[in-house]
Amino acid sequence: MPMNIAIDGPVGAGKSSIADQVAARLNILHLDTGAMYRAFGLYALRSGVDMNSEEALSGLVERVDVQVEYRDGAQRTLLFGEDVSEMIRTGEVSAAASAVSKWPAVRRHMVRAQQEMALKADMLIDGRDIGTVVLKDSPCKIFLTAATEERARRRYLQQTAKGDMTPYEQVLRELNARDEQDMNRKTDPLRQAEDAVLVDSTNMTQDETVDAIVAIVEEIYGKQ
Ligand code: DC
Repeated sequence: MPMNIAIDGPVGAGKSSIADQVAARLNILHLDTGAMYRAFGLYALRSGVDMNSEEALSGLVERVDVQVEYRDGAQRTLLFGEDVSEMIRTGEVSAAASAVSKWPAVRRHMVRAQQEMALKADMLIDGRDIGTVVLKDSPCKIFLTAATEERARRRYLQQTAKGDMTPYEQVLRELNARDEQDMNRKTDPLRQAEDAVLVDSTNMTQDETVDAIVAIVEEIYGKQ
């Protein structure tokens, strides 16, 4: 069995960058499942379908081609072969990803694809339902969170560094809206798996958080 590590948590907990660094330290791949929902959200936007229609979206998810590739160890996300890795990071696509991901038909399709990938290689997978669904039998699960205002502050700093001048209050509002949707949907809502270890990074630096997670992994899988 490959070594599989599950990391879940809310928006802006730093999952992606922390997961990238932990995976690099352990010399394994990092699968960012949010990018897959984002790529599908982008496709739904481009197709102009009603995001409130499960029927329309289940038809679309059967036809979509979302692939993940690794170049120099970094994930690239492809939509029908087009590299959309950067394009899927806008606010519009974030909202679309959150909207499409609430539908069971969409989740079933994505979960299956993620489980197939997890069988093929040692992998750290981050998302919302990894410890509870995708890797529910994994012995190594982490729930990474931080206080809401701190998560919004980090997201705001990230965005302004990229030239996106969205005000802090709006970032906080959007983050709350997305948390609300991700935690309250009927199918596979974001929640901490019973056997997940909680890491609260509110008062931790990135390096401290990475160290803490590597230590948890090594306790479970032994020193890598
Ligand atoms: O992690 P992220 O912000 O890139 O995720 C984008 C959206 O996709 C998020 O609002 C919820 C959804 N998502 C999900 O439902 N399940 C996952 N495993 C990963 C992401």
